[in-house]
Amino acid sequence: MNTNQKLYEGKAKILYATDDADIILSVFKDDATAFNAQKRGTIRGKGEVNCAISTHLFRLLEAEGVRTHWIDTPSPTTMRVRTVTIVPLEVVVRNIAAGSLCRQTGLPVGTPLSPPLVEFYYKNDDLGDPLLTSDRIRILNLAAPSQVEQLQTLALQINNILTKFFDQCGITLVDFKLEFGLDGKQSLLLADEISPDTCRLWDQAETDPERRVMDKDRFRHDLGDVEGAYQRVLARVLGAPLRSPSASEV
Ligand code: TMP
Ligand code: ASP
Repeated sequence: MNTNQKLYEGKAKILYATDDADIILSVFKDDATAFNAQKRGTIRGKGEVNCAISTHLFRLLEAEGVRTHWIDTPSPTTMRVRTVTIVPLEVVVRNIAAGSLCRQTGLPVGTPLSPPLVEFYYKNDDLGDPLLTSDRIRILNLAAPSQVEQLQTLALQINNILTKFFDQCGITLVDFKLEFGLDGKQSLLLADEISPDTCRLWDQAETDPERRVMDKDRFRHDLGDVEGAYQRVLARVLGAPLRSPSASEV
Protein backbone atom coordinates (compact mmCIF):
# COMPACT_ATOMS: atom_id res chain seq x y z
CA MET A 1 0.00 0.00 0.00
CA ASN A 2 1.14 3.51 -0.70
CA THR A 3 1.74 5.26 2.63
CA ASN A 4 2.97 8.51 1.11
CA GLN A 5 0.94 11.68 1.62
CA LYS A 6 -1.78 12.10 -0.97
CA LEU A 7 -1.38 15.49 -2.64
CA TYR A 8 -4.25 15.38 -5.12
CA GLU A 9 -6.77 12.95 -6.53
CA GLY A 10 -7.90 13.62 -10.09
CA LYS A 11 -10.32 11.75 -12.33
CA ALA A 12 -7.71 9.29 -13.65
CA LYS A 13 -4.69 9.59 -11.33
CA ILE A 14 -3.66 10.16 -7.73
CA LEU A 15 -0.54 12.17 -6.88
CA TYR A 16 1.54 11.35 -3.79
CA ALA A 17 4.45 13.19 -2.18
CA THR A 18 7.84 11.50 -1.75
CA ASP A 19 10.76 12.26 0.58
CA ASP A 20 12.18 14.39 -2.24
CA ALA A 21 10.18 17.60 -2.83
CA ASP A 22 11.27 17.57 -6.50
CA ILE A 23 9.69 14.15 -7.14
CA ILE A 24 6.08 12.97 -6.89
CA LEU A 25 4.36 9.66 -7.57
CA SER A 26 1.57 9.57 -10.15
CA VAL A 27 -0.66 6.50 -9.72
CA PHE A 28 -2.93 5.64 -12.64
CA LYS A 29 -6.51 4.53 -11.84
CA ASP A 30 -9.05 2.37 -13.66
CA ASP A 31 -11.72 5.08 -13.10
CA ALA A 32 -13.02 6.72 -16.25
CA THR A 33 -15.08 9.87 -16.65
CA ALA A 34 -16.44 11.75 -19.64
CA PHE A 35 -18.38 14.92 -20.35
CA ASN A 36 -16.83 16.72 -17.39
CA ALA A 37 -17.47 13.75 -15.09
CA GLN A 38 -21.21 13.58 -15.85
CA LYS A 39 -20.53 10.02 -17.03
CA ARG A 40 -18.51 7.76 -14.71
CA GLY A 41 -17.32 4.21 -14.98
CA THR A 42 -14.41 1.82 -14.69
CA ILE A 43 -12.25 0.50 -17.48
CA ARG A 44 -10.69 -2.69 -16.10
CA GLY A 45 -6.89 -2.64 -16.39
CA LYS A 46 -6.85 0.97 -17.66
CA GLY A 47 -4.45 2.17 -14.96
CA GLU A 48 -1.79 -0.31 -16.01
CA VAL A 49 -2.39 0.14 -19.73
CA ASN A 50 -2.28 3.94 -19.61
CA CYS A 51 0.78 3.93 -17.36
CA ALA A 52 2.60 1.58 -19.76
CA ILE A 53 1.59 3.52 -22.91
CA SER A 54 2.46 6.88 -21.33
CA THR A 55 5.80 5.50 -20.14
CA HIS A 56 6.63 4.31 -23.65
CA LEU A 57 5.62 7.61 -25.25
CA PHE A 58 7.38 9.82 -22.69
CA ARG A 59 10.54 7.74 -23.17
CA LEU A 60 10.23 8.10 -26.95
CA LEU A 61 9.72 11.86 -26.67
CA GLU A 62 12.66 12.26 -24.28
CA ALA A 63 14.85 10.35 -26.77
CA GLU A 64 13.72 12.85 -29.43
CA GLY A 65 14.73 15.80 -27.23
CA VAL A 66 11.35 16.75 -25.71
CA ARG A 67 11.60 17.40 -21.98
CA THR A 68 8.91 15.61 -19.94
CA HIS A 69 8.11 15.19 -16.26
CA TRP A 70 8.67 11.41 -16.48
CA ILE A 71 11.54 9.94 -14.44
CA ASP A 72 10.77 6.21 -14.29
CA THR A 73 7.98 3.70 -13.74
CA PRO A 74 8.65 1.70 -10.56
CA SER A 75 5.39 -0.31 -10.62
CA PRO A 76 2.79 -1.12 -13.31
CA THR A 77 0.51 1.75 -12.27
CA THR A 78 3.08 4.16 -10.78
CA MET A 79 5.27 6.76 -12.43
CA ARG A 80 7.85 8.85 -10.63
CA VAL A 81 7.62 12.33 -12.10
CA ARG A 82 9.29 15.68 -11.58
CA THR A 83 7.29 18.13 -9.47
CA VAL A 84 5.93 20.90 -11.68
CA THR A 85 3.39 23.68 -11.46
CA ILE A 86 0.78 22.75 -14.04
CA VAL A 87 -0.02 25.47 -16.59
CA PRO A 88 -3.84 25.69 -16.54
CA LEU A 89 -4.14 25.12 -20.28
CA GLU A 90 -5.16 21.97 -22.14
CA VAL A 91 -3.27 22.02 -25.43
CA VAL A 92 -5.17 20.08 -28.10
CA VAL A 93 -3.58 19.15 -31.43
CA ARG A 94 -5.87 17.98 -34.24
CA ASN A 95 -4.75 16.24 -37.44
CA ILE A 96 -8.25 15.16 -38.47
CA ALA A 97 -11.55 16.78 -37.54
CA ALA A 98 -13.49 14.93 -34.82
CA GLY A 99 -15.17 15.50 -31.47
CA SER A 100 -15.92 19.00 -30.26
CA LEU A 101 -14.42 20.61 -33.36
CA CYS A 102 -17.09 18.94 -35.51
CA ARG A 103 -19.87 19.53 -32.98
CA GLN A 104 -19.02 23.24 -32.71
CA THR A 105 -18.20 24.07 -36.35
CA GLY A 106 -20.17 21.57 -38.46
CA LEU A 107 -16.95 20.37 -40.11
CA PRO A 108 -17.50 16.74 -41.21
CA VAL A 109 -15.81 14.08 -39.05
CA GLY A 110 -12.69 12.84 -40.84
CA THR A 111 -11.79 16.12 -42.59
CA PRO A 112 -7.95 16.26 -42.80
CA LEU A 113 -6.47 19.34 -41.12
CA SER A 114 -3.23 20.39 -42.73
CA PRO A 115 -1.38 22.08 -41.14
CA PRO A 116 -2.60 20.58 -37.85
CA LEU A 117 -4.81 22.72 -35.65
CA VAL A 118 -3.48 23.67 -32.19
CA GLU A 119 -6.10 24.83 -29.68
CA PHE A 120 -5.93 25.99 -26.07
CA TYR A 121 -8.65 25.16 -23.55
CA TYR A 122 -8.93 26.55 -20.02
CA LYS A 123 -8.20 23.71 -17.57
CA ASN A 124 -11.10 24.53 -15.28
CA ASP A 125 -13.74 21.87 -14.49
CA ASP A 126 -16.15 24.41 -12.96
CA LEU A 127 -16.26 26.27 -16.28
CA GLY A 128 -16.29 23.06 -18.38
CA ASP A 129 -12.81 23.62 -19.90
CA PRO A 130 -13.83 26.34 -22.42
CA LEU A 131 -11.94 27.04 -25.67
CA LEU A 132 -9.65 30.06 -25.29
CA THR A 133 -8.32 32.73 -27.60
CA SER A 134 -4.85 34.27 -27.20
CA ASP A 135 -6.51 37.44 -25.87
CA ARG A 136 -8.45 35.43 -23.28
CA ILE A 137 -5.21 33.69 -22.21
CA ARG A 138 -3.64 37.15 -21.80
CA ILE A 139 -6.59 38.66 -19.92
CA LEU A 140 -6.74 35.70 -17.54
CA ASN A 141 -2.94 35.72 -17.25
CA LEU A 142 -2.83 31.93 -17.77
CA ALA A 143 0.53 32.04 -19.58
CA ALA A 144 2.88 34.68 -20.99
CA PRO A 145 2.67 35.26 -24.78
CA SER A 146 6.19 33.80 -25.18
CA GLN A 147 5.09 30.68 -23.27
CA VAL A 148 2.01 30.30 -25.50
CA GLU A 149 4.28 30.49 -28.54
CA GLN A 150 6.59 27.90 -26.99
CA LEU A 151 3.63 25.62 -26.18
CA GLN A 152 2.43 25.84 -29.78
CA THR A 153 5.90 24.90 -31.08
CA LEU A 154 6.27 22.04 -28.57
CA ALA A 155 2.78 20.73 -29.36
CA LEU A 156 3.56 20.59 -33.09
CA GLN A 157 6.96 18.97 -32.45
CA ILE A 158 5.31 16.33 -30.24
CA ASN A 159 2.62 15.81 -32.88
CA ASN A 160 5.29 15.12 -35.53
CA ILE A 161 6.96 12.50 -33.35
CA LEU A 162 3.73 10.82 -32.19
CA THR A 163 2.03 10.84 -35.61
CA LYS A 164 5.00 9.00 -37.14
CA PHE A 165 5.19 6.57 -34.21
CA PHE A 166 1.48 5.68 -34.23
CA ASP A 167 1.56 5.35 -38.01
CA GLN A 168 4.20 2.61 -37.56
CA CYS A 169 1.71 0.91 -35.20
CA GLY A 170 -1.01 1.02 -37.88
CA ILE A 171 -2.85 3.69 -35.89
CA THR A 172 -3.91 7.17 -37.05
CA LEU A 173 -3.38 9.85 -34.42
CA VAL A 174 -6.53 11.91 -35.00
CA ASP A 175 -6.12 14.36 -32.12
CA PHE A 176 -4.81 14.53 -28.57
CA LYS A 177 -4.58 16.69 -25.47
CA LEU A 178 -1.36 17.70 -23.72
CA GLU A 179 -0.66 19.36 -20.40
CA PHE A 180 2.54 21.15 -19.47
CA GLY A 181 4.15 22.22 -16.21
CA LEU A 182 6.85 24.61 -15.10
CA ASP A 183 9.81 23.29 -13.14
CA GLY A 184 11.79 25.25 -10.52
CA LYS A 185 13.73 26.98 -13.30
CA GLN A 186 10.49 28.05 -15.05
CA SER A 187 11.18 25.63 -17.92
CA LEU A 188 8.21 23.99 -19.61
CA LEU A 189 7.99 20.20 -19.26
CA LEU A 190 5.41 17.93 -20.86
CA ALA A 191 3.32 16.54 -17.98
CA ASP A 192 0.19 14.47 -17.23
CA GLU A 193 -0.18 11.42 -19.55
CA ILE A 194 -0.50 10.44 -23.20
CA SER A 195 -2.86 7.49 -23.53
CA PRO A 196 -6.11 6.33 -25.12
CA ASP A 197 -7.82 8.54 -22.48
CA THR A 198 -6.23 11.65 -23.97
CA CYS A 199 -5.88 10.79 -27.67
CA ARG A 200 -8.23 9.83 -30.51
CA LEU A 201 -6.68 6.77 -32.14
CA TRP A 202 -8.15 5.13 -35.24
CA ASP A 203 -7.18 1.63 -36.36
CA GLN A 204 -5.89 1.91 -39.94
CA ALA A 205 -7.03 -1.68 -40.58
CA GLU A 206 -10.69 -0.70 -40.07
CA THR A 207 -12.82 1.64 -42.18
CA ASP A 208 -16.05 1.37 -40.20
CA PRO A 209 -16.37 4.60 -38.14
CA GLU A 210 -17.21 2.68 -34.96
CA ARG A 211 -14.95 -0.34 -35.33
CA ARG A 212 -11.86 1.80 -35.98
CA VAL A 213 -12.10 3.62 -32.62
CA MET A 214 -9.32 2.50 -30.19
CA ASP A 215 -9.65 5.22 -27.55
CA LYS A 216 -11.91 6.68 -24.87
CA ASP A 217 -14.59 7.51 -27.44
CA ARG A 218 -15.58 3.80 -27.01
CA PHE A 219 -16.43 4.65 -23.38
CA ARG A 220 -17.87 8.11 -24.12
CA HIS A 221 -20.28 6.81 -26.74
CA ASP A 222 -20.94 3.28 -25.38
CA LEU A 223 -19.31 1.54 -28.34
CA GLY A 224 -18.37 -1.54 -26.24
CA ASP A 225 -15.09 -3.47 -25.90
CA VAL A 226 -13.34 -0.53 -24.24
CA GLU A 227 -10.86 -2.77 -22.37
CA GLY A 228 -10.05 -4.72 -25.55
CA ALA A 229 -9.35 -1.55 -27.51
CA TYR A 230 -7.01 -0.17 -24.83
CA GLN A 231 -5.17 -3.53 -24.68
CA ARG A 232 -4.78 -3.53 -28.47
CA VAL A 233 -3.27 -0.03 -28.41
CA LEU A 234 -0.79 -1.19 -25.76
CA ALA A 235 0.14 -4.30 -27.76
CA ARG A 236 0.76 -2.22 -30.88
CA VAL A 237 2.72 0.43 -28.96
CA LEU A 238 4.95 -2.21 -27.39
CA GLY A 239 5.33 -3.89 -30.76
CA ALA A 240 3.99 -7.13 -29.36
CA PRO A 241 2.55 -9.53 -31.90
CA LEU A 242 -1.20 -9.04 -32.11
CA ARG A 243 -3.30 -11.66 -30.37
CA SER A 244 -4.99 -13.85 -32.96
CA PRO A 245 -8.75 -14.15 -32.38
CA SER A 246 -9.84 -17.17 -30.36
CA ALA A 247 -12.23 -19.72 -31.92
CA SER A 248 -15.23 -18.20 -30.11
CA GLU A 249 -14.54 -14.78 -31.66
CA VAL A 250 -14.19 -15.94 -35.26
P1 TMP B 1 -12.55 17.17 -28.00
O1 TMP B 1 -12.75 16.90 -29.44
O2 TMP B 1 -13.63 16.59 -27.12
O3 TMP B 1 -12.33 18.63 -27.73
O4 TMP B 1 -11.22 16.42 -27.55
C1 TMP B 1 -9.99 16.66 -28.22
C2 TMP B 1 -8.94 15.70 -27.68
O5 TMP B 1 -8.65 15.95 -26.32
C3 TMP B 1 -9.34 14.23 -27.74
O6 TMP B 1 -8.22 13.48 -28.16
C4 TMP B 1 -9.70 13.85 -26.35
C5 TMP B 1 -8.86 14.80 -25.52
N1 TMP B 1 -9.54 15.24 -24.30
C6 TMP B 1 -8.96 14.99 -23.07
O7 TMP B 1 -7.89 14.40 -22.97
N2 TMP B 1 -9.60 15.45 -21.96
C7 TMP B 1 -10.78 16.12 -22.00
O8 TMP B 1 -11.31 16.49 -20.96
C8 TMP B 1 -11.37 16.36 -23.30
C9 TMP B 1 -12.67 17.09 -23.42
C10 TMP B 1 -10.71 15.91 -24.41
N1 ASP C 1 -11.83 13.68 -18.96
C1 ASP C 1 -12.94 14.51 -19.10
C2 ASP C 1 -13.93 14.39 -17.99
O1 ASP C 1 -14.36 13.55 -17.41
C3 ASP C 1 -13.69 14.48 -20.37
C4 ASP C 1 -13.36 13.53 -21.47
O2 ASP C 1 -12.28 12.97 -21.55
O3 ASP C 1 -14.25 13.37 -22.32
O4 ASP C 1 -14.43 15.25 -17.59
